[in-house]
Amino acid sequence: MNGATAMHDLAARAMAREWFYPYVLPDGRSLPSSHDGRVDAIHTTRSRMLDAWLARELAGDRGKLRALDVACHQGYFAIQLARAGLGRVDAADVRQEHIDDVDLLRQIYALDNLHTQRCDVFAMPDSASHDLVLMFGLLYHLENPVGALRKARALTRDACLIETQVVPHLSGMVDWGSYDYVRPLKGCFGIIDELDETHAPEASVTGICLAPSTEGLLWLLRAVGFSHAEVLPVPDDGYEQLRHGKRVMVAARV
Ligand SMILES: C[S@@+](CC[C@H](N)C(=O)[O-])C[C@H]1O[C@@H](n2cnc3c(N)ncnc32)[C@H](O)[C@@H]1O
Repeated sequence: MNGATAMHDLAARAMAREWFYPYVLPDGRSLPSSHDGRVDAIHTTRSRMLDAWLARELAGDRGKLRALDVACHQGYFAIQLARAGLGRVDAADVRQEHIDDVDLLRQIYALDNLHTQRCDVFAMPDSASHDLVLMFGLLYHLENPVGALRKARALTRDACLIETQVVPHLSGMVDWGSYDYVRPLKGCFGIIDELDETHAPEASVTGICLAPSTEGLLWLLRAVGFSHAEVLPVPDDGYEQLRHGKRVMVAARV
């Protein structure tokens, strides 16, 4: 089979099914959407925010940098990083179906710097192996989000971007055994039930989900060892949840 025929077959495979992200093939055709484009704004807003961060913080030669996209799904952000010139991008997800999808797109887009791995976030080695770690859309699908933040810190050599749904914050003093001994509340988690959705491609694998408040997330990032953490700006015309602070993208530095 020659190269053109092989590429035609790969593109035909991709066109034959539906995708969670708004992908465009090299020949200009858009891949079919699994949601008629209803969810595209959340993806494109996050992509613009990631682009803005890359332009600001990693403006120079990116060829020696290594990045990891934890919970990559169909690889939308890993592919963005690979196209942005990072020397090596690892895309990992617990679901094999997603890894297979990223492998198909890697061939279609001819991205030799993109590598895939099926892996649960908690099984990743604590190796500070990546200059940049993305953890988008994962935290609020986990029953152990603090463990995931510890893992993110352990994997990160320089910067980690975390994007998550957040819950309203509670603040105030808490009696800690007695009204004479009080502690300030640093943040809170909301418990969300995904027990009946663990089969869904975007969902939790255990069904018990803890979503943090923004203030709690910022406090936790420093508590697990990042030196600095900040909420990134959202474009004025960005997705409503990000504009209204119901989701946040946070940049943490080692
Ligand atoms: C809402 S999707 C987010 C995908 C993508 N990062 C994004 O932001 O668009 C959640 C992803 O987390 C993955 N996931 C869930 N639990 C995981 C775990 N314990 N380890 C690794 N990936 C997990 C799912 O398979 C799914 O791809």
